[in-house]
Amino acid sequence: MIDDYERFELIINDQVVKTPVAIASMAGVVDAAYVLERADHIGAAFIGGYSIDQATLDASRMLAEEGRTEFLYDDPLEELVHQRDLFRDSGVVTGMNLRGSTPEAYHDAAEALGDGIVYEIDAHCRQTPIINTGCGEYLLKHLSRLEEMIKALKSADVTISVKIRAGVSGDDRLLARRIWEAGADILHIDLMDDGYQKIRQIRNICPITLIANNSINTYNRMMEMFSHGADMVSVARRSDIRTLSGLDAAISRYADEAGWYNAPKQLCRGGDIRALTFCCMPVKSCPLLPALDKIGMSKEDFQILKLEAVKNTPLSEGRTTCFGSLAWCCKISVPCMFRNMTLEAAGISGKDYMRYKHRLADTIMDRIFNESPEDVTV
Ligand SMILES: Cc1cc2nc3c(=O)[nH]c(=O)nc-3n(C[C@H](O)[C@H](O)[C@H](O)COP(=O)(O)O)c2cc1C
Ligand code: SF4
Ligand code: SF4
Repeated sequence: MIDDYERFELIINDQVVKTPVAIASMAGVVDAAYVLERADHIGAAFIGGYSIDQATLDASRMLAEEGRTEFLYDDPLEELVHQRDLFRDSGVVTGMNLRGSTPEAYHDAAEALGDGIVYEIDAHCRQTPIINTGCGEYLLKHLSRLEEMIKALKSADVTISVKIRAGVSGDDRLLARRIWEAGADILHIDLMDDGYQKIRQIRNICPITLIANNSINTYNRMMEMFSHGADMVSVARRSDIRTLSGLDAAISRYADEAGWYNAPKQLCRGGDIRALTFCCMPVKSCPLLPALDKIGMSKEDFQILKLEAVKNTPLSEGRTTCFGSLAWCCKISVPCMFRNMTLEAAGISGKDYMRYKHRLADTIMDRIFNESPEDVTV
């Protein structure tokens, strides 16, 4: 049996994610008990939202009086410790969607709860009483305050997610970039009416772990997200066992067959920046050249980067392919006799080929975003 790491090669908060399907928070509904009933079919869950300081608790009480479902506790941190403990041995990466009105509130929560959970800043809520506390959507319009909150959690050395709603901030690419630069590990995005194009835009601007959310209830919609840069998808309203188990089974089967569950489309077919792993040598006029321009990489550097990255790996094979190395070869779904003959002669399965291409994409992403982040202008 393929083990979970080998299947998805996904780790969050030092824990292997057993499937890239998560439950997204619903205040007053999603708690440990809700998640544990569904634990066999998910890799992560964000319980809450929980209000964690006086201002946000007062706002939650106001919302509850208006008839919304809310989690309300006199001592929310005590309750969160209890919720955290219920997840022990669940195999589910545990996240908590938290509403705090100050950076200190988040820092205090991290001190009380430790590093075994992912801290999700709720920059998503659009209810006026929450916004008036300086939380929820307020943070999407006051980026420096959001950065302060991220940094407060960062100083407690914990894993951070930020839940956002697309289309609120004015510039979601800039927002994503600043969230990543401030030190967040995960961007959890409610796409609203935006589709996979938004995921691709964000994937092209930063390498943060990306969770796509909103009506991702079908295989096709999930695969649209994965093939444009999402690392995970999350489900809230339809997080019933039937939907979650269907998504989990489908992506597990796909990963076992294809080797790279969230492989991008080829760049010229609308793929995100990871698709550089499938690109040809830069010798003709095609979408590769503007893509290299955007990331500030010369054709020569791209050539060196790819050839260096595949040295002493099976992708260095391929003398009879178009450009003399599998480094330049297309996605396995693009039919090609020459590539397939090389793979066969070298004893590399199509699935392994895709796994090697995944490694190459990771190296390219590292080079674009980590070695010279200040130069990136995508
Ligand atoms: C009843 C309800 C409560 C919600 N509460 C929260 C919350 O507290 N924090 C948050 O970040 N998102 C909250 N959400 C938003 C969901 O997590 C999710 O982003 C949204 O429902 C779209 O995803 P879906 O189509 O899978 O439901 C809530 C949604 C619903 C329906
Ligand atoms: S280099 Fe090849 S794969 Fe990449 S965009 Fe151009 S034609 Fe497409
Ligand atoms: S040999 Fe085939 S797979 Fe490789 S670059 Fe040429 S067309 Fe693409």
